[in-house]
Amino acid sequence: MNVQEIIAKKRDKSKLNKEEIEFFVTNYTNGNITDYQAAALIMAIYINGMDEEETTNLTISMTNSGDILDLSELGNVVDKHSTGGVGDKVTLILTPIISSLGLPVAKMSGRGLGYTGGTIDKLETIPGYNVNISEEKFKENVKKIGISLIGQTLNLAPADKKIYALRDATSTTESIPLIASSIMSKKIAAGANKIVLDVTYGSGAFMKTKEKAQELADTMVRIGKLANRETVAVLTPMEQPLGKSVGNALEVIEAIEALKGNIKEDVKDVVLELGSNMLKLAGKGNNLEENKNRMLENIKNGRALEKFKELVANQGGDVSYIEDTNKFKKAKFILPVISKVQGKVKELNAEQIGKLSVFLGAGRIKKEDKIEKEVGIILNKKIGDKVEKEEIMAYIHANNEEKAKEAVERLSEIYQIN
Ligand code: URA
Repeated sequence: MNVQEIIAKKRDKSKLNKEEIEFFVTNYTNGNITDYQAAALIMAIYINGMDEEETTNLTISMTNSGDILDLSELGNVVDKHSTGGVGDKVTLILTPIISSLGLPVAKMSGRGLGYTGGTIDKLETIPGYNVNISEEKFKENVKKIGISLIGQTLNLAPADKKIYALRDATSTTESIPLIASSIMSKKIAAGANKIVLDVTYGSGAFMKTKEKAQELADTMVRIGKLANRETVAVLTPMEQPLGKSVGNALEVIEAIEALKGNIKEDVKDVVLELGSNMLKLAGKGNNLEENKNRMLENIKNGRALEKFKELVANQGGDVSYIEDTNKFKKAKFILPVISKVQGKVKELNAEQIGKLSVFLGAGRIKKEDKIEKEVGIILNKKIGDKVEKEEIMAYIHANNEEKAKEAVERLSEIYQIN
């Protein structure tokens, strides 16, 4: 068996068998297959797809490419994963709330992918926060304070780590078999026995329609069942960016504000929907409305914020940034986007805004790229809001003046007002 034959088979729309998929995953993970060969196969999968059996085999091979954590000693542990979005800071708000309600959270998150952001890039904007901790420390943290959020640094699904970075740089993200295997291999390897999936749809999601999102959700739930992980998928819209900020540090600041009680309605809806399902799945309350109320209560009484601080402190982060978000470094240029007309915002395409934030430096073009933590966009006006002529609709945060000016022009065009 060699990789050229496997690439040619998928290129020619044939089905790959279990051995071929395993050969590819094992040899790409250990460096025997090059990035360019892997990129060719991933593009062939992207274009020609995979059936259920191939997707399951790909997930199993990716899961088995590294260690598989056993968290059974911690009882019911819930994990959560989103299929990606723009301005999606949900994990940062949701997981401390859930943990403050007594449900252990052990989560391995990802970095930005394509035009969507990643929780790990966001957490790293908090000085000192260490996303690279050992398996023992990960477990110990969950045992000690009921929460740990880490990156893909343990030897968990290393195949996904490589394929994910490759997909990010080769425009091969929007594919059901590739997304399902990426997410489920990580989730199965990370050891939680309950999984809640946030499957997004709309302009800012990889799945542009609700039907496609349902297909992805069904694929992942089916794989979860096969792996003995109780899995629930919730479909959420991502037509415009979630909340008011896009960009790493800016989103962390918004998440901290949310935990302090100042939470945007659209963000609140997603956080409550996912959290109430997580609590139900873990046997902590069957009534979703009651679960939502308990979550809101723990924002009000400060317990969720306290849990977030505990998480940050426990992973080496500087808690003073949580207490005073003014400490986060600001971008060099902060320019307003001013409306030339009066009217109502009709459209605010999330994918275009995600791409604009990548242009500003918040995401990667090449997989080795370093992101600029402080750049991004603040949206004062969202779909349905009234806008006066000359009113400030948004702010661009950039470290380069030319880019800042270009972004102002591009964002004025993205705002559809009438
Ligand atoms: N999140 C992941 O972890 N993988 C994907 O492919 C998409 C979103």
